[in-house]
Amino acid sequence: MSFSFHQTVIDEFRANAGRVGGPFEGSELILLTTTGARSGKPHTVPLGFLREAGGLLVVGSAAGADRHPAWYHNLLARPLVQVETAAEEYEAVAVPAEGARRDELFARVVREAPGYGEYQARTGRVIPVVVLQRTHEAASGEGGIAGKLLDVHGWLRAQLELVRELVRERAHEEPRGGRALPLGLQLRQHCLAFCHSLEFHHKSEDAGLFPYLEQQHPHMREFFRRLDAEHRGIARLQQELVRALDAPGGAGFGEGVERLSRELEAHLDAEEAQLLPVLRALGA
Ligand SMILES: [Fe+2]
Ligand SMILES: [Fe+2]
Repeated sequence: MSFSFHQTVIDEFRANAGRVGGPFEGSELILLTTTGARSGKPHTVPLGFLREAGGLLVVGSAAGADRHPAWYHNLLARPLVQVETAAEEYEAVAVPAEGARRDELFARVVREAPGYGEYQARTGRVIPVVVLQRTHEAASGEGGIAGKLLDVHGWLRAQLELVRELVRERAHEEPRGGRALPLGLQLRQHCLAFCHSLEFHHKSEDAGLFPYLEQQHPHMREFFRRLDAEHRGIARLQQELVRALDAPGGAGFGEGVERLSRELEAHLDAEEAQLLPVLRALGA
């Protein structure tokens, strides 16, 4: 699809609550917005999709071209994406399926939309199948800034726990005395999604929430200095973790995750214990 054709479809989708005409007449689409791997700019494409237990499935067919579409490269670098359906817009973690699971999902895609089988026949590339898993499923139910803080912390805790679980599963499969298994895309995508969310959350605390609260409560100054220092320490552990993602066999990744979990859990607990009462009292 050319850029201007994309834009026409996107405009029509947004203007008509997800309905589009032309070659897409009658088919259900989503708009997927990724972040440019190099440019850092948002990149939106209209895509067909299938519903799956874990989320929505999209296929990087690029109409059978020999190169993966740009959005696929983007989501490997930045797994947090925006999904717009006819009814709603939400954030998701993009996880490409691998191995037997990819083949199983692709076979399902071809049963429902045989055109994808023709695309696969045109190229030597293995056409990727990506699961878009919605984030923030479990909300705290509390309103205001206190509720937002709890929601973000809840998502960070859950995502890190998922990464730990994937590490444990992998340790289980590890061949004794053999070469270390690669970490796998599922683990990589959840780890990067967690790291990017954490970075964003700490930046917004440092630049927004903490200076605001310190103004209201100057006596808490020391506490905020401590949180700042913890943010810097956690950022270092997180950078090490991302480096371990690319190390052969993910050397050091498992230990890195455990260290980060301990530091982060203690940080989130302290923040919640001290800040939630303050936020609730402010009625903010
Ligand atoms: Fe924090
Ligand atoms: Fe926080």
